[in-house]
Amino acid sequence: MDKFIVKGKTPLRGDISISGSKNAALPLLAAALLTDEPVRFSNVPRLQDIYTFNNVLRVVGAQVQFLEEQNQVHIDANNVNYLEAPYDLVRKMRASFYMLGALVGKHGYAKVSMPGGCAWGPRPVDLHLKGLEAMGIQITLDKGYVVAKADDQVSGGSFRLEPSSVGATINLILAAVLRAKSFRIENAAKEPDVVQLCRVLNEMGARIEGAGTDTIHIQKVDKLTGGTFRNDPDRIEVGTFMIAATMHPDSHLRLLGCNADHLGNFPELLRQTGAQVSIDGETIEVKAPEVLQPVSITTGIYPGFPTDLQAQWATMLTQANGHSSVTDTVYFDRFSYVPELSRLGADLKVEQNKVSIHGPSKLEGASVMSTDLRASVSLVLAAMVAENSSEILRIYHLDRGYESLEGKLNAVGAKLTRAQE
Ligand code: EPZ
Repeated sequence: MDKFIVKGKTPLRGDISISGSKNAALPLLAAALLTDEPVRFSNVPRLQDIYTFNNVLRVVGAQVQFLEEQNQVHIDANNVNYLEAPYDLVRKMRASFYMLGALVGKHGYAKVSMPGGCAWGPRPVDLHLKGLEAMGIQITLDKGYVVAKADDQVSGGSFRLEPSSVGATINLILAAVLRAKSFRIENAAKEPDVVQLCRVLNEMGARIEGAGTDTIHIQKVDKLTGGTFRNDPDRIEVGTFMIAATMHPDSHLRLLGCNADHLGNFPELLRQTGAQVSIDGETIEVKAPEVLQPVSITTGIYPGFPTDLQAQWATMLTQANGHSSVTDTVYFDRFSYVPELSRLGADLKVEQNKVSIHGPSKLEGASVMSTDLRASVSLVLAAMVAENSSEILRIYHLDRGYESLEGKLNAVGAKLTRAQE
């Protein structure tokens, strides 16, 4: 397994180009199964999760070409003939569960493994299954697999998501587009990932209204055409690097190829720490403050503070001058990074779904363990402002969600080396 050796304490200065969004690309890959015509996606990041999803598509019979140098994926699902997504692939990546909606939506049958849990606890799919049943799709469980069956046209109707779920919204859209006469999703997720999926499906001929609002209304069409589409930039990567730029007083980064419309009030929150944040089209510039002010946050569903930036924000607060807290209302136990930050000398503690932080802490290099994607990148942020060397173990978590992270950070002054554990 790979590890990072990180030499602190380094300021970050220069330009970083933002990659395509992982979480926006994955539903697009599933949507390619809804047409018999070739589909091409550009700005797809070279990440483990994309390779995994490409393999899931190949298992069911789609032809998939990943032109890595161009960050393009070409998919031809004309010969899909095997309507199952196996456990050993689905357990690797929860988003494979989108195969359920796509396969039953296009073919009227799907057999997909229940997804595993993940580092920070159970992640249920009850809303996906209840929503599909509300649509008129027959759902049965068979030894850890979900079997979905649907007539050519199902009754449709409506279903309210409680809580609002990104994955459930996506799965229900994929199932309904070709199959449900009329289907309404209440309390639908509003993430840009969902808005992009609906925009692309509509360009392929679907009839979806209300993307980005509380209620999404889908009306059945008989077929979808193919096409070429560009994937959004990764808003979580943008937020991660904006935070990185505040943690050393001499840091100053320009992030290129961003979409600031996807960031909600995150830039304003970051300004409250004293950081200078300027947005000019697709370029976001962040200059660190002399002294970081503590700014407490609570995560929420979009457009609230993203849970995927919770660990990074808490890490930044270890360097802020005073007390603060981070509360996660989306995932109540997504704090596995806290004991690792303590090993670096940070002063923070978790009570239920809230971490309280006292800063600034002088961080000292140590050996720490990645536990999940966003926790791992937070350890990199901390190690870059710790004195002396740190080693970050099990960075395969990072490789799932950050394209060439060491290349990007070393180009702006970090000292990361990848080595064998
Ligand atoms: C997506 O996961 C993202 N993954 C996650 O990013 C992100 O953290 C999450 O949305 C929240 O923003 C992808 O897009 C591939 P949810 P998803 O269904 O769809 C509860 C990363 O770091 N829930 O919106 O699985 C659930 O327990 C990953 O890139 C149910 O109760 O998240 C949670 O509390 C990690 N029943 C809340 O909804 C269900 O059937 C939000 O989960 C489904 C979800």
